[in-house]
Parts: sequence; C-alpha cells; structure tokens
Amino acid sequence: MDIKTNYLDLADGNRMPQEGFGLYKVDGQETMNASIKSAYDAGYRLFDTAQLYGNEQEVGTAFKELEIPRDQIFVTTKVAENNQGYDQAIASVKESLKKLQMDHVDLLLVHWPIERAFFETWRAFEDMKKAGLTHSIGVSNYQMIHLQYLATKAREMPVVDQIELHPLLTQKPLLKFNQDQQIVTQAWSPLGRGAVLGEEVLKRIADVHHKSPAQVILRWHLQNGVSFIPKSVHAARIQQNAAIYDFTLTDDEMAQIDALNKYQRTGREPELTYEYDKQY
Ligand SMILES: NC(=O)c1ccc[n+]([C@@H]2O[C@H](COP(=O)([O-])OP(=O)(O)OC[C@H]3O[C@@H](n4cnc5c(N)ncnc54)[C@H](OP(=O)(O)O)[C@@H]3O)[C@@H](O)[C@H]2O)c1
Repeated sequence: MDIKTNYLDLADGNRMPQEGFGLYKVDGQETMNASIKSAYDAGYRLFDTAQLYGNEQEVGTAFKELEIPRDQIFVTTKVAENNQGYDQAIASVKESLKKLQMDHVDLLLVHWPIERAFFETWRAFEDMKKAGLTHSIGVSNYQMIHLQYLATKAREMPVVDQIELHPLLTQKPLLKFNQDQQIVTQAWSPLGRGAVLGEEVLKRIADVHHKSPAQVILRWHLQNGVSFIPKSVHAARIQQNAAIYDFTLTDDEMAQIDALNKYQRTGREPELTYEYDKQY
C-alpha cells in the first residue's frame, strides 16, 4: 500500500484517497504550483481547498499549468458561512467551479455548521449533487448534535465529516459516532499545526521506527482508519508526510499517542460558530 493507491469507500458508492494535501495558507501562484507539483509527484491525489482560503483560482491554474489530468485527482472545496442559504450556496459553488476551472468537484463540504441556514444549505447540497456539480457531499466541523439534527430533515446524509483531529484533540466519541453512521471522518490540522510535534512520547516512538514525529502522527491517523490532509509548502516535508506506509505502530504505541489528548483546539469551537453564524 502507498499514498497513491490507498482509498477509503464512501457511503454513496464513491471512493476517496485516505491521505490528502491541505491547501490552507498555500498562497501565491508560484508556491501553489511548486507545492501541488511536489505533492502530485509524491503520490497525493486528494487536494483540499475552500472558498474561505481565497486560493481556488490558483489551485485551478496550478492543475492546468502542471497538466495534471482531471480524472487523476480528487478535489474538495467548502462553502463559506457567508455563502450559506439555498440560492447563495449554489451560486457560490458555480463561482468556485469557475475559479477551479472544472465542471465538478469530487467532494463539497459545508465549512461550518451555522444556525441561520442549517437545513436550506444542506438541501442545496443534495440538489447540487443531483445536478452533478459535485460527486459527494459532506460537512465540516459538525459535532454529534449537528449530525443528529441534520438527520431529522436530510434526504441523504453527509458521507464525510472533516473535523479538527490530532493527538491533542483525539475526538474518540465523535469518531465512533461517525463510524457507526457510515460517515468517514477526515482530520484537519492532522499535525495540530505543528503544536504537537515536540512531544517527548512522539520523539521516542519516532526514534524506534527511524521516522519523524510528524510521520508517527500521520501513521497514527492512518491506523485509526480516518482520512487526513497534512499541509506543507516544503518539498522535503511533503515527501516525508507521504512516506508513512512502510512501518506499523504497535497497539501500545497507538495507546501512548491516544493518551496525549488534552481536548486542545487550535481552531474554533463549532458550537459557538453555530450560534454566532460565522467563525468568531
Ligand atoms: N475544515 C476546516 O475548518 C479546516 C480548518 C483548518 C484546516 N483545514 C484543512 O486541513 C489542512 C491541514 O491543516 P493545517 O494546515 O491547519 O495544519 P497541519 O497540516 O496540521 O500542519 C501544518 C503545519 O505543519 C508544518 N508541517 C507540515 N509537515 C511537517 C513536517 N513533516 N514536519 C514539521 N512540520 C511540518 C507546516 O509547515 P510548512 O508549510 O512550513 O512546511 C505547517 O506549519 C489545511 O491545509 C486545510 O486544507 C480545514
């Protein structure tokens, strides 16, 4: 198994690479082209952007300039809070597709749950899937309560929930809930934005396997069965983050990493975002 051939099955019948490439704060056409080229050459096939990142145009241009065939990649984008609502969501996704220079994305996510347009936005997502603007629909930053609420009216449920997930925020109950509901959990900030890399436990485990702490964390995600999307703008790290398929963590090492949990977020608390109607 390697990064290029390792896919997860989604509940709607589609497939998604388990490991992908995060594009938040990958800015400027030159950096975008170099990062996407390094990632594609290293075997990454999933690329994760969002309306909020302001780089969809650069992402689309990079694929064109690098002559990467559309059918070789899996592209995710996300609808921002201020574009939620039935008509607004559809109009914003058409605009995203124009910028990305493609006729569909593979996965479309609601970026954050917000109360104002909770059900209308999802209805738009279901209709956009039917219309072929996206192959799969999912959500991001949804907690158990948001998914349960969505289920009261949804015609189809999200197949992916992209959440903040790393050794300082292990989210075990939500992982179990998603798994029971056939929702694939996808980890954002899988490296905790670097915050966790200095942990002694990780250094010790990394030494045993002749790997880096970042590789140990990504291997932990892999063995947990979740999808994960590390970001880097450095070719050596991009390659390193893909080189995690040639070693295995023991059950004891997995448990030691689980024990780092401190309920520590690097991003927003979803419940507050829901109440405020935007990231605060
Ligand atoms: N849905 C959401 O609300 C949401 C929120 C945040 C992020 N995301 C998505 O998740 C992706 C990943 O999250 P993230 O970018 O916040 O954080 P991350 O992937 O956990 O960490 C990225 C940071 O770690 C560094 N890094 C990467 N590989 C490394 C390595 N091998 N060794 C040491 N340092 C390393 C990077 O630096 P360099 O770039 O300098 O190498 C960068 O500073 C984003 O790009 C975005 O696509 C989604």
